[in-house]
Amino acid sequence: MTSPYIHYIYRQDAKTLAAALAGRITELYEASAARPFVIALSGGSTPRALFDYWREYPALLTGRDYRFWWVDERMVPETSSDSNYGNALRACFGPMGYDLSRLYPIPYDEESSVADAVARYNDRLEGFMTEYRRTAPFDLVILGVGEDGHTSSLFPNQPFFDIPALYLRSVHPTNGVERVALSYAGIARSPKVIFHVTGQGKRERLAEVIALAERSDTEAQRLPAAYAMRLTPQPEIYTDIPR
Ligand code: 6PG
Repeated sequence: MTSPYIHYIYRQDAKTLAAALAGRITELYEASAARPFVIALSGGSTPRALFDYWREYPALLTGRDYRFWWVDERMVPETSSDSNYGNALRACFGPMGYDLSRLYPIPYDEESSVADAVARYNDRLEGFMTEYRRTAPFDLVILGVGEDGHTSSLFPNQPFFDIPALYLRSVHPTNGVERVALSYAGIARSPKVIFHVTGQGKRERLAEVIALAERSDTEAQRLPAAYAMRLTPQPEIYTDIPR
């Protein structure tokens, strides 16, 4: 049974779910005094439905003072179909003519190392927080959950639990591609975290993530998504997976 601190929001398909999630984001914006309202977006295939929805209803974004940062990024050029920023740009922000100065992609260039990209993004975020006198880096973080239980680019068996930096360097465990990832510390410093999880293939994993998150820190650390959920004061799960 899910404890009352986890809010489980189920819709029967990805599109209806995206509409509910977009509505929730607007609601959080309206309820918050933070301007700009700062969101960290995840990558992978899950956000596609949300991007489609926003592209269909651009006034949800263009009429409001949002800034978008990224939870994680693969170290590939923006033109690659693996680029989280590139995909968001192509699916959503580009077609709607969004003001690109409100987007804060994780930097990539062939000449620099991933460590350099991490340092630059951490610095940019610190500077942004100072400029807007923010204590929390983001007002809302939207996390995906991978089939192996990873979240951000924090994978199982990577002992990143005590790293204080907001972003860190990670490596995908099987394909070896380097990534920049929002850390557990970065997740813990966000007042609101929404887990956006779609696909019936993740059913058992999602149940396991929730169960571990409710048990103990040590148990939750077995799966990154579970530990991220445990670090979150009132996690909300938006999913097309029935409980
Ligand atoms: C990434 C992510 C990652 C993602 C999950 C789910 O860039 O890989 O941000 O954490 O949210 O892997 O991925 P899917 O949405 O593709 O299932």
